[in-house]
Amino acid sequence: MTSRWYLLSALLLCAPAVSHAEDAAALWDKSCKNCHGPDGRAQTRMGQKESIPDMSTAAWQKAESDAELRQVIANGSSHNPKMKAYKDRLTAEQMDALVRYIRTFKAKE
Ligand code: HEC
Repeated sequence: MTSRWYLLSALLLCAPAVSHAEDAAALWDKSCKNCHGPDGRAQTRMGQKESIPDMSTAAWQKAESDAELRQVIANGSSHNPKMKAYKDRLTAEQMDALVRYIRTFKAKE
């Protein structure tokens, strides 16, 4: 009995590490997609209204460093209060995973 519990909790502890990529996609869908769109292109009502940049362009991807993206996700945008700070809602790992996820939006040239 005890060993079974031990095994179960070990499995539960490992679970988050296994599916990072999926986690980031799910997180994006849940928390970011409404404004930034499923593909980061911000073809949404909020995107249009707030002129959210298209994250798929090579120019945007090049202009924004990982550190800058991470900073906006953690602390919100100083230009637009609609982009809120997520540091109290997401873990450091989740924010890092979202930065990597945003990199996958880059359009193929
Ligand atoms: C309520 C709408 C909204 C939601 C939800 C939202 N954002 Fe934003 N986001 C914005 C707006 C508006 C901007 C543009 C801010 C500006 O002009 O500086 C922005 C900007 C950003 C930027 C910086 C873009 C740049 O060019 O500097 C990043 C990175 C970002 N968001 C990531 C995220 C992530 C990750 C999530 C989900 C955890 C998220 N956003 C959720 C509205 C939103």
